[in-house]
Amino acid sequence: MAKAHRRIEVPLGERTYSVRIGPGVRHTLPEVVAEVGAARVVVVSARPGHWVPDPGVPALTLSAKDGEDDKTLATVEELCRRFAEFGLNRTDAVISCGGGTTTDSVGLAAALYHRGVPVIHLPTSLLAQVDASVGGKTAVNLPHGKNLVGAYWQPKAVLCDTDYLDTLPSREWLNGYGEIARCHFIGAGDLRGLALQEQIAASVQLKASIVSADERDSGLRHILNYGHTLGHALERATDYAVRHGEAVAIGTVFAGRLAGALGRIDEARAAEHLDVVRSYSLPTTLPPGQDPERLIALMRLDKKATAGLSFVLDGPRGPELTHNISEDVVARTLVTMTP
Ligand SMILES: NC(=O)c1ccc[n+]([C@@H]2O[C@H](COP(=O)([O-])OP(=O)(O)OC[C@H]3O[C@@H](n4cnc5c(N)ncnc54)[C@H](O)[C@@H]3O)[C@@H](O)[C@H]2O)c1
Repeated sequence: MAKAHRRIEVPLGERTYSVRIGPGVRHTLPEVVAEVGAARVVVVSARPGHWVPDPGVPALTLSAKDGEDDKTLATVEELCRRFAEFGLNRTDAVISCGGGTTTDSVGLAAALYHRGVPVIHLPTSLLAQVDASVGGKTAVNLPHGKNLVGAYWQPKAVLCDTDYLDTLPSREWLNGYGEIARCHFIGAGDLRGLALQEQIAASVQLKASIVSADERDSGLRHILNYGHTLGHALERATDYAVRHGEAVAIGTVFAGRLAGALGRIDEARAAEHLDVVRSYSLPTTLPPGQDPERLIALMRLDKKATAGLSFVLDGPRGPELTHNISEDVVARTLVTMTP
C-alpha cells in the first residue's frame, strides 16, 4: 500500500485530474484505473517490467526508450499501430512509465489514437514529475527542432512515485532541480529546505494553478518559461550537452540580472536569483567558450519572441513576458555570466 502521499488537483472543469505524489504511490494504479473506468490498458514503459504494478484489468505491455532520439512521429506511429492490433478503444486507457520524453510521446500517441484515449502518466524522472507529465502538453521532435509536433491532451491522472527516483543519476537530479529552482520566482516561494515530496508537490501545485488559468498558453502560462529564453539558446548552442534544467538554471540567474539591469527589480532581488540557483548546486555561469552573439541570435529564434528579444522577467507586477528588450543590455548582461 502507498504510504502518506500528497494529492494535487489540476482544476480544468470536466478534464480535472489529480496528481498523486509520494513514496509507493504507483501502487494506487489499480484504484486509478478503476476510477477512469478503463476496461483494458496498454502500458508503455521505459523502465523494467516490475516498475508498473498490475493495473487490475487485462493489459498489453510495450517497451519504450527514453531520450530525445526516440521522441519522434515514428515512435508515435508504432505505438498507434500496436494499440490498433490490441483493439484499444476509448473505453480503455494508455499508461506511460518513464522520463519526460516517454510521457511526451506516449501522451501524443494517446491524444491522436481514436482522436484521444485516456492516458495515465507514471513519470520516473524528477523533471517529468515536476513538469513534463503535468499540464497536458504533449509533443515529439522533428529534425528541424524540438517539440514541433504536438497536441494538448490532459492525462486522467499522474502518479509521481518518489521511490522511482532512487535510481536517478545525479545529472538528472540537477535537471529536475533546475525547474524547481525557477519556481521560486514565479509564485511558489522558497522551496529550499523542504522535503523532496513537498518540493515536488509545490512545483506541481504552482503548475496546476497556472495551467488551470491558461491551459493553451495564451497568456499566464508563459511564466513557466522563466529562465528558458537563454536556457533554450544554451541547449542549442551546446548541442544539448548542457541538460535542460541546467540551462534553465543559468537562464534564471541571467533573467534576474537582466531584470535588475532594466531597473525592474532591485539589486537584492537580482542577487536572490544567484543565491537560489546556487543553493540547489546548479550551474550559475555560462559554460566556457560561449559566443554572446550566437546566443543572442538563438534567443531571437525563441518561440515567444514575437517582437524582438523576449524574456519572462520579474518586475513590480511580478513575472511577465516582456518584448523588445534592448540587445545592448542583453549583451552587457551576458558578459556578467561568463565564468
Ligand atoms: N510536456 C511538457 O509540458 C514538458 C515540460 C517539460 C519538459 N518536457 C519534455 O521532457 C523531456 C525531458 O524529460 P526528462 O528530463 O525526464 O528526459 P528523459 O525522458 O530523456 O529522461 C532523462 C534520463 O533519465 C533516465 N531516467 C528516467 N527515469 C529514471 C529513473 N527512475 N532511474 C534511472 N534513470 C532514469 C532516462 O532513461 C534518461 O536517460 C524533454 O523532451 C522535454 O521537452 C515536456
